[in-house]
Amino acid sequence: MSAKKILDMKGGEPIVCIAAYTTPIAKMADKHCDLVLVGDSVGMVLHGLPSTQSVSVEMMVMHGQAVRRGADHALVVVDMPFGSYEASPEQAFETAAYIMQETDCTAIKLEGGAHMAETIDFLTTRGIPVMAHVGLTPQSVKGIGGYAVQGRGEDRQRVLDDAKAVQDAGAFCVVLEMVTEELANEATKLLDIPTIGIGASNQCDGQVLVIDDMLGMFQDFKPKFVKRFADLGADAEKAIAEYAQDVRSRAFPAADHVYADKK
Ligand code: KIV
Ligand code: NA
Repeated sequence: MSAKKILDMKGGEPIVCIAAYTTPIAKMADKHCDLVLVGDSVGMVLHGLPSTQSVSVEMMVMHGQAVRRGADHALVVVDMPFGSYEASPEQAFETAAYIMQETDCTAIKLEGGAHMAETIDFLTTRGIPVMAHVGLTPQSVKGIGGYAVQGRGEDRQRVLDDAKAVQDAGAFCVVLEMVTEELANEATKLLDIPTIGIGASNQCDGQVLVIDDMLGMFQDFKPKFVKRFADLGADAEKAIAEYAQDVRSRAFPAADHVYADKK
């Protein structure tokens, strides 16, 4: 899958994306999805960090390599983490090139609208496909004061302007995160590049969910926009509890699980 093919899916059958971090999940996603995003959400989802702000480039490279080993068909996109690209277009280019060289991913993603346009233009004119991300941008959650729906009322035009700016700068698609349905629909009509919704609208050109959220692995909290397609977290804990009980009662290992000496 190429970035151009994703771009060409604009207005057609919805583009299916999953944010994933490991080889086994990437192998499964590769059979059913168009795009696998190695999201910096990995910091919170798998590493227990309080936000995405302390995710490192090395963390993204390690998970990017793991996902790339499992994905042949789907486009692999890796998030650039907070602090690795915002200072200048040159900083962004160095980080993007490094991530692409280390992981063999096809594109990178960065957060931000109009203020990142110059950087997106700098990268795309130098051969780096960029997936943009506007609306709620978790890396700036401290600056915007929390995880809140974006683009309500007066704020609508700002988000639309951001979406238009990243398109004009050369992004091949744009994530719209936690925006109103009306805004997502309007942006989808306005733009010539695909909109990928998360907490947005089923009229977006595609959807993305975090794998652990959609599998119900993460049980503490469920944002309104998440649909749980499975309840693996509860299943996993039940299995661990049974294992603990079997070990303590010496029911495990049983005859099936042990080796006899040669007769
Ligand atoms: O980090 C992530 O998983 C993301 C998606 C939710 C868009 O940025
Ligand atoms: Na992200």
